[in-house]
Amino acid sequence: MARLNVNGVVREHNAEPDTPLLWVLREQLGLTGTKYGCGVAQCGSCTVHIDGVAVRSCVLPASAVQPTQKVVTIEGLAPRGDHPLQKAWVANDVPQCGYCQSGMIMAAAALLRDKPRPTDADIDAAITNICRCGTYSRVRTAIKQASGQRVAGVDVVHIVKTVREA
Ligand code: FES
Ligand code: FES
Repeated sequence: MARLNVNGVVREHNAEPDTPLLWVLREQLGLTGTKYGCGVAQCGSCTVHIDGVAVRSCVLPASAVQPTQKVVTIEGLAPRGDHPLQKAWVANDVPQCGYCQSGMIMAAAALLRDKPRPTDADIDAAITNICRCGTYSRVRTAIKQASGQRVAGVDVVHIVKTVREA
């Protein structure tokens, strides 16, 4: 049995060592919020955090993750799905089909950890995830709202207040 620390809990699994972390999360641990898109580290739908850093789990062998490292998936980002980004996502109706969105949010959360008030250039550099539905502009707006920045045409004060009061 191998062990992983996922969302604050030590979990055991019996996957082969070269099995990508994505499939251990989905098939062994039942955490299906992390999605399979391309399988070659291009689309970002499989993004999770390892020790706070955004990682594309489709190409990372599970055996490369030490039990001391903290894996966080979309299910563990906030206890009740109430991370400021998740609230901003809802406020802006960001998702369309939704398939890419957990990866988008995890990439955005890692960005805000590093840069609490990211510029457009910061967002462009950090969020290289692909969305076939083209939600990019709403993703940008939601990231800015979650970071407390003013966005043209949007009542940011109301949304930030809503996020803080939750
Ligand atoms: S499924 Fe991992 S980057 Fe596309
Ligand atoms: S919302 Fe459909 S792929 Fe992004």
